[in-house]
Amino acid sequence: MRVIVCNDYDEMSRKAAKLVASQIVLKPDCVLGLATGSTPIGLYDNLAQMNKRGEIDFSEVTTFNLDEYYPISPDNEQSYRYFMEHHLFNRVNINKNRTHIPDGTTKDPESECAKYERMIEESGGIDLQILGIGQNGHIGFNEPDNNLNTVTHLTNLTENTIEANSRFFEKKSDVPTRALTMGISSILKSRKIILLASGRTKHKVVRELLNDGINTSVPATMLKVHPDVVLICDKEAYSDMYLGVDIGGTSVKFGVIDGFNNIVFKDSIPTHKDMPAKGIVDNIAAQCLKIAQRFPISSIGVGTPGIIDFDTKTVSATNLPFDKAPVALWLKEATGLNVYINNDANCAALGEAVAGEGAGENDIFMITLGTGIGGGIIIDKKIYTGKHGDAGEIGHMCIETDGLPCACGNRGCWEKYASVSALIAQTEAAAEANKDSILANVIKDDCVVDGKTVFKAMNMGCPVAQKVFDKYIDYLAIGVRNIINIFRPGLVVISGGISEAGDRLLKPLIQKVGSDTPIKISRLQNDAGIIGAATLGKNAK
Ligand code: GLP
Repeated sequence: MRVIVCNDYDEMSRKAAKLVASQIVLKPDCVLGLATGSTPIGLYDNLAQMNKRGEIDFSEVTTFNLDEYYPISPDNEQSYRYFMEHHLFNRVNINKNRTHIPDGTTKDPESECAKYERMIEESGGIDLQILGIGQNGHIGFNEPDNNLNTVTHLTNLTENTIEANSRFFEKKSDVPTRALTMGISSILKSRKIILLASGRTKHKVVRELLNDGINTSVPATMLKVHPDVVLICDKEAYSDMYLGVDIGGTSVKFGVIDGFNNIVFKDSIPTHKDMPAKGIVDNIAAQCLKIAQRFPISSIGVGTPGIIDFDTKTVSATNLPFDKAPVALWLKEATGLNVYINNDANCAALGEAVAGEGAGENDIFMITLGTGIGGGIIIDKKIYTGKHGDAGEIGHMCIETDGLPCACGNRGCWEKYASVSALIAQTEAAAEANKDSILANVIKDDCVVDGKTVFKAMNMGCPVAQKVFDKYIDYLAIGVRNIINIFRPGLVVISGGISEAGDRLLKPLIQKVGSDTPIKISRLQNDAGIIGAATLGKNAK
């Protein structure tokens, strides 16, 4: 089976339409097998437009539809005859006498089915069959069963199909419980088959189709014996989905990513860090379960502050009540999904490496400037954690002997000089020492000092602020140079709130560092953590 993965429904519909159009151009009197359901509507729209533009001519085309509800009259809006008239036949120059759909009003379904089968044969057989796929793997109305019918027949619909198709009816009890449908071999006799699948409700069945063998409980797997089937699907139907969880001091962010690193859903809840560890994790688990009900999640990846003991899989963090907390285990027990965990800065680095600025690099080093300085080391697109799980604590590399004391017990740590907290302290000290400066006045007016204050005062031409900033860049550059000298990565990425300053931070930093190793601002910013966390699960496959 050939697989074409499209970005979205529209692209899928366009590609399918091109294939159908080529069939009509190559053989103007071809026999098309047609399907109903919401999936081929876009294909029919495209064909109608192509016909209108004069690109394809339906005048000699013959069609056979896969199926029809039973009993149902053709003027019932839910009948497949009505559907086809509305979506295709009334919009193109087709000869209606050449369009065939099983007769939902027949009193004798058995002979109607035999007649239908005969007519397909007499037409010379189907050149190109369009198929959708039911969530339970049905094609046409060939439902999962121990025995599949080969030819056109009357069938009972399964509860799953009645439920899925009830969206087109006023109420579920209005959905007919039976249908007339081409059989599996009627379908397999077609010379060529296009199978369409779109949206995440089809993801599970597409996985079964592509991964598992041939099985009557997923009737679409029968298509694997056919030599010329092309599955055209969109990313949502094709791709596995992974949940990324980024635990922070104030909020926990959640993101669902597909196999192509697109975020398809985002959400967040408050962390409530005053609660015990188990309570925090229970809240996270409840949210994960909610999300897993909406998306076909394969695994959960978690980025958390603190240090992970990879032997015991426990987390200890200073700014959360995690003291050897078995976060991954708790989440696995509550959700039943595999859970992977790593440090949040590492996850952000991984996210940036797979889907951000580092997408073209194997080795990157990410520096997060915030209250402290975090580091994430990516080697060969994988997180380097070191033997004890805590590699990359670059905020605590010493840049000044006998320098400022740090909470870690040492002195002169880089984060005491180059974090945003350090910049704020430097800004405050300079304003205090230069009470008449523009900087001091900006602080007086704003009643607050933050990472933006120095930039604001510089904009107003303040030499004191400029001096603070230049010194800050000196400090930042020392650390970045050290990192480059040790790791020589393909790229250094700077993230954290201050990176919003963009080129005003980056340009002087690059100049001061004076290296040919590229330094860039994080492209993903706050999303890097959830993408990286989700990638933990994706990479573990
Ligand atoms: C119906 C049709 C099938 C179709 C399926 C999926 O049951 N008999 O031919 O493939 O629904 O429909 P949808 O494309 O709306 O998901």
